[in-house]
Amino acid sequence: MKYFGIILTLVLSFQFLQAQEKFAVDVQKVGSGIQPDMYGVFFEDINFGADGGLYAELIKNRSFDFHQPFVGWTPFGDVQVMDESPCFDRNPNYVRLNEKGLRRGTGLENVGFTGIGFKQNDNYNFSFFARSLTENEMTFKVILVSAENENIGNAEIQVSGKEWKKYSAQIKATATSAKGKLRLILQTAGEVDLDHISLFPAETWKNRENGLRKDLVEALYELNPGVFRFPGGCIIEGNTLETRYQWKNSVGPVENRPLNENRWNYTFDYRFFPDYYQTYGLGFYEFFLLSEDLGAEPLPVISCGLACQYESEECVAVGDLQPYIDDAVDLVEFANGPVNSKWGKVRAEMGHPEPFNLKYLAVGNEQWGEGYVERLIPFMEALNKKYPEIKIIGTAGPTPDGEKFDYLWPKMKELKVDLVDEHYYRSPEWFLDNAERYDSYDRNGPKVFAGEFASHHKSRNNNMRAAISEAAFMTGLERNADVVQLATYAPLFAHVDAWQWKPDMIWFDNFSVVRTPNYFVQKMYANNAGTNVLSITMDGVNITGQDSLYASAVIDKNSSEVIVKIVNAGDKVHDLTVDLKGLKVTAENQKVEVSYLHNNVPEAINTLEAPNTIVPGQFSLTASDKGFSLKALGNAFYVCKLKILK
Ligand code: AHR
Repeated sequence: MKYFGIILTLVLSFQFLQAQEKFAVDVQKVGSGIQPDMYGVFFEDINFGADGGLYAELIKNRSFDFHQPFVGWTPFGDVQVMDESPCFDRNPNYVRLNEKGLRRGTGLENVGFTGIGFKQNDNYNFSFFARSLTENEMTFKVILVSAENENIGNAEIQVSGKEWKKYSAQIKATATSAKGKLRLILQTAGEVDLDHISLFPAETWKNRENGLRKDLVEALYELNPGVFRFPGGCIIEGNTLETRYQWKNSVGPVENRPLNENRWNYTFDYRFFPDYYQTYGLGFYEFFLLSEDLGAEPLPVISCGLACQYESEECVAVGDLQPYIDDAVDLVEFANGPVNSKWGKVRAEMGHPEPFNLKYLAVGNEQWGEGYVERLIPFMEALNKKYPEIKIIGTAGPTPDGEKFDYLWPKMKELKVDLVDEHYYRSPEWFLDNAERYDSYDRNGPKVFAGEFASHHKSRNNNMRAAISEAAFMTGLERNADVVQLATYAPLFAHVDAWQWKPDMIWFDNFSVVRTPNYFVQKMYANNAGTNVLSITMDGVNITGQDSLYASAVIDKNSSEVIVKIVNAGDKVHDLTVDLKGLKVTAENQKVEVSYLHNNVPEAINTLEAPNTIVPGQFSLTASDKGFSLKALGNAFYVCKLKILK
C-alpha cells in the first residue's frame, strides 16, 4: 500500500511535468494572405534615440541654437554667442572667439551625449564653418580628449577669409575612451566666428556623410522589418503646435534644418533631460533612405493640427488647416513625385531622384474625440483626391479599449480609413489574455495597424516574461493576418544613460548594443512571417492559452515552408505532437529546424555586461508523415520550420 502511494505520486507528478497535447495543422487548407510588410519597427526620437543615438553626430548642440546656447559646451577665454549675419539663417546662432594673445587659451569643449565614445584606431571626421575677422591666418587645434583628460588625437585647421567656409579634418583616436570630449583651441591672436561644429565617426552605416550609427542600423537590419513607422509618437504632435514635428524643417542642407525642442526632455520630471533637442540631422530624407536600406515600407506620421491632447488643448481651427494639409500632400510629392515637381526636386537634390514609393501615411498619432474626426476628414479628402493610391491610417486613440477607443473605431469605419492604428502598453497578463482579441474583428472594416505595443512587466524591464507574453499575443496577430496587417513594437531605442521611457526594444551606450528578448521575439516573427495563414488547433479549437499554450502556423509559398510558432507561457514542460495534415514527409524534408527563445527565470534580462543571457538557440527534430514531437519548455517560444516537397 505504502509503495502504491509512492508510485501514484510519481506517476501524477510525471504527468504534471509531461502533459501530452496534440496540435493539428492542415497544410492543404491555405488561409488568408499575410502582408509582406506585416512586422516592422516604429522609430521615435525618445530616449536619445536619434540625436545621441541612431544619428551618428557626436557633438551636442553643434550650432549653439539650444535655448541656452552653451548647453553641451564649456567655453574658455573670450567666447560670445552671436547671431548677426549668420552662416545659416534658420539656425542663426554662432560663436565668436577672441584670442588676445595672452596665452590663456580661447576655445570650447563639448561633452557629446553622455560623453563622446572614442575607439582606438578609429577615424573621426571633424568639421566646422568659420570666418575670420582678422587679416592673418588663424590656427585651431582640435583635440580628442579622453575621460582622463589626455590628448588621444588631434589636428590643426587654418582659417582665413571673411566669408563663411567649411573646414574639415580627419582625426585618428590613439586610445579608447567611452566618455571623452572634444576640445577646440584658437592658437592665433585675433577673432574668428565658428558655427555647426561637428564630429562623426568615419565609419557609419554605408559610410554615408551625415550618417547613422552602424551597429544600431545593423540591429535593425537583422530584424528584417517590413514597415518603418517614423518619426513618432507624441513628438509629431508637439506639446504645443509650434513644437510639432514639421517634416519640411527636416530636409535640405543639414546645417540649416531649424532646431526643435524634444518634448521628452521635460515630459517626466523623474527623467528630466533639459539638454534634449531635435537637430533633425536625421530627418525625413534620412528616414526614407533608411526604410529603403532596410527593405521596409516607409510609414510617416504627420500632425493633424492637434497638439498632444495629454498636454494641451491647443489646436488649429478646422478652417485653418490648409497649411497642415499641404504638408501632408507635399510629403507624398517629396517621397514619390517626379524630379521636376517642387518637392520631388528637393528629394532629387538631396541625392535620390528615384521615388521612395510611399504607400502609407498616418494622420495624427494618439488623437481622440470629435476634434480628431473633424480634422481627419479634410486631410482624407485632399489626399484621396490627389493620391488615391496612398493608404491612410487613422487612430483609435491612446488605449486599446475604453471610451475614446469605442468612439473612434466606428468613426474610422464611417470615414473608410484604410487602417486604424491601435496602441497597447499593457501588462504581460493582458497580452496573454488577448491572444483572441482579433478573432472577432469585423472582416469588412478598416484593417488594423498595431502601431505601438509593448508588454509592461511591473518592473518595466525588457524581461523574459514580457517577451513571452508578446510572443503569445502575436500568435493572435498572425492568425488574424487578414485583419491585422501591420505591427510595430514601441519604443525602439533607449540610451542606457539617457532614457525617459521603458521598456524599449534595443538598448545602447556609446559603444555597444543590447538586443532584448523582446527584440528577438520581433526578429523571430519578422524572419518567419510566411505568406499565408494555416489553421492550427488543439481539440478542434484555436490554441490561445489552454494550459498556457499558444500557437499559430503559416505557409511560406516563396520558400516552400511550413512554419509553426508555439509559445509555452507557463512553467511546466509540455510534450507536444504537431500533426501536419496533408504534408508529405520523406527523407528529403524530414528535418524540422527549430529556433527558440527560452529562459527559466521570467525576470531575466539582457544587459550591457551580459548581453547574451537570453538569445535564440537552434536545434533540429525529425518529422514523419504524422508530423513531429516537441518538448516545449516553460517560458519559451519556438519557431519550427519544415520544407514542403514540390
Ligand atoms: O512610445 C512612446 C509614446 O507612447 C509615444 O510617443 C506615444 O505615441 C505613446 O503614448
